[in-house]
Amino acid sequence: MDHQVVVLFHLLCAILFVGAVAMEVLILEPVRKLIGDEVFQRVEFYLFRRIRRTYPLAVIPLYITGFYMYFGYVENSGGFESFISTSFGMLLTAKMTMALGLLTIFATSPFVFMQPRSRSAVGHLKHFLIVTGGPEDFRIDRFELMHYLALGFGLGIVLLAKLMFML
Ligand code: HEM
Repeated sequence: MDHQVVVLFHLLCAILFVGAVAMEVLILEPVRKLIGDEVFQRVEFYLFRRIRRTYPLAVIPLYITGFYMYFGYVENSGGFESFISTSFGMLLTAKMTMALGLLTIFATSPFVFMQPRSRSAVGHLKHFLIVTGGPEDFRIDRFELMHYLALGFGLGIVLLAKLMFML
């Protein structure tokens, strides 16, 4: 596939992913003070569940296109050693590492944000895929830290993505 088409697809998915995190931090967090914790917990639970159920459609292609391009660059440089010795290779690898950190937050979020429940192996898988439980199980005490961390990663990734072409 043409490289520019892959980049376009990568960017569209990146906007959707980081945009959702930015919306949570910049819009939802300030609204919390106006609506109170009880309503916030309900709203945030349903929002979180919706994001967790639909966003794999953007997140999976984002990482597939990313790794596809990454290994393409490694191959064109004649191997990982010569690739990582360039500033482009180093910054792209740092970007990939940060992106894996963000993916870890997204992947583990059903277990980070929801009260622990005793579940079978199938129950855990179901919870991982579609988020089970109700609004009362949602941990709003972890909302700020995890979302600020995620937004920090998202902004860092985008900055590195541009810096790697400039330095
Ligand atoms: C949250 C995750 C990610 C975000 C927000 C993101 C964002 C971006 C952005 C904004 C660009 C700049 C595109 C341009 O200016 O043309 C870019 C390029 C790129 N990204 Fe990602 N990315 C993410 C994950 C990944 C991952 C996991 C990899 C794999 C290692 C990756 C590999 C690349 C590559 C190779 C380019 C250069 C594309 C080119 O040749 O123009 N990205 N990314």
